[in-house]
Order: sequence, then structure tokens, then C-alpha cells
Amino acid sequence: MTLTYSSYLKLDQLLALQEPLSDGPEHDETLFIVIHQVYELWFKEMIHELDYLQALLAKPDAPRALHTLKRVLTILKVVVAQIDVLETMTPLEFLSFRDRLESGSGFQSFQFRELEFLLGAKTPAALDRYPAGSAHRQRLERRLAAPTLWDAFLKFLRSEGFAVPAESLQRDVTLPVAQSPALQAVLIDVYRHDPTVSSLCERLVDLDEGLQEWRYRHVKMVQRTIGTKRGTGDSEGAAYLLTTLNRPIFPDLWAIRADL
Ligand code: HEM
Repeated sequence: MTLTYSSYLKLDQLLALQEPLSDGPEHDETLFIVIHQVYELWFKEMIHELDYLQALLAKPDAPRALHTLKRVLTILKVVVAQIDVLETMTPLEFLSFRDRLESGSGFQSFQFRELEFLLGAKTPAALDRYPAGSAHRQRLERRLAAPTLWDAFLKFLRSEGFAVPAESLQRDVTLPVAQSPALQAVLIDVYRHDPTVSSLCERLVDLDEGLQEWRYRHVKMVQRTIGTKRGTGDSEGAAYLLTTLNRPIFPDLWAIRADL
């Protein structure tokens, strides 16, 4: 069969995947499904690029790493901007089908957790949301045990000749990245003397800030849509989400600013 636009992109399959559950169905449920599916596709692409970024840092190939980071940052901008679209849905429009979500929640997005784990925001407790032995749990267990983007960056720094402290290079990769004053001294040296590596650091700060921006926009959307109601994932809703703000993934890169 001749390849066509539709056959290559599997459009018949793709466009059959939006199945509203509400009676009618309610008009806004289609938007809700589409936007979440689009998010998951972008999460997939970001994971794909960030895996590649780690490989480029290991090579090391700084120019290509910077190029890949730029792509991820551009996707992140799109992902944050998409919230505007969902904010056109009013609280009553959301309520028209919210019951149909039962306990389904973005809480359970295994790709979002994978993205967090890959970057360095490791929260082992998140695994409890996935049944033991399930494919999603196994996927997250592998990511939990794997070195993060930050670990790849530290090895890259060492390969560029910087004296990265052994305790940082040998840190327990299943834990979130903790601040290290000894490493901060090295990073200050990078900022003062190496424009290429320091621009890579700045792009990592963009990435960290971009994810925090997404969290802020998401919690504002939640506040305007469901106010103080509990989440479908049974958390305290916005009150829980507020606790996830201002938690940098790469704390050392923020800390050094006071000493530059
Ligand atoms: C009307 C729109 C939305 C509402 C009201 C909403 C509400 C919530 C709430 C209340 C939580 C906390 C967990 C819970 O108890 O359920 C949550 C978590 C989450 N939501 Fe949303 N959400 C919306 C749209 C989205 C979209 C479009 C995405 C994109 C994938 C998303 C991704 C997430 C993620 C990843 C979490 C986990 C955050 C974390 O634990 O740090 N949400 N959402």
C-alpha cells in the first residue's frame, strides 16, 4: 500500500482515541481529553530528548547538548502556554463531566513522574500509586534507579576538567539532588571562567524555572476551576499543589547566584 500522510501518522487510530464518557456527551469533555493527550505526547517527546541530552553530555558534545536543551525548553514553553486553552473552560463546564473522571487524576501520569525522575526530582513515594509489578511501576522503578540529568551534567563537568567533588559524583541517584557547598564553589568557577559550560548551566536553570512555571500555572488553573475542592486523585487539591511550588530541581544552580 502506498504511504500517505494519514497512514504514516496513523490518523485513523489517533483520531479514534478521544472518547468522552459523559452523556450527550458534554461539549467540553472533548477539549479536556485532547489537551491531556497532547500533554502526554509532549511528555513523551521531552523524555525522548532528555535521554538524548544525557547521551550527548556523556560523549561529550556540548554544542549538540545545548541545541537539544533549546528544543526541550521550546517545548516546555508550548506546554505552559497550553494551560491558557484549558482555562477557557469554566468551573460549571468542568463540573458537567467531572464525576466521570472518578479517581482518575494527573497525579497518575507516569510520564510526568518519569520526567521528574529523569531530571532529578526523585520522589520514591510516587511509586505507591502504581500496582506492584505493573508495566508503569516497573518503568518508574527503572527511572528511579537510573542516574539523572544532573548526574550526567556533573560527569560532563568533570570531563571538561572541573574538579567535581567525589561525593557529588557518587551521590545516591535515587534521592533528590541535595545542595553541596563544595560543588557550588566549582560552579562559581564555571560561571567566572567558562562561557560555554556556564551557558549550559543557564539553560538548565531555564529548564528548572520552566517546570516551576508549569506548576504555578497548573495550580492557578486548579484554583480557578475547582477552588478548594479535593482533587479526583484524593489529594487536598490546590493546597497540595501549592506545596510543590518553589522546589528547584537543581538547587546548587540557584544557590550560587548569591555568591557570584
Ligand atoms: C481542569 C483542569 C485540571 C484540574 C482541575 C486539575 C486538578 C488537579 C489536582 C487537584 C491535582 C492534585 C492531585 C489530585 O488530588 O487529583 C492535580 C495534579 C496533577 N495534574 Fe492536574 N488538573 C487539571 C489539568 C491538568 C492537565 C491538563 C495536566 C497535564 C497533563 C495535569 C497534570 C497534572 C499532574 C502531572 C499532576 C501531579 C502534580 C504533582 O504531583 O506534582 N493536570 N491536578
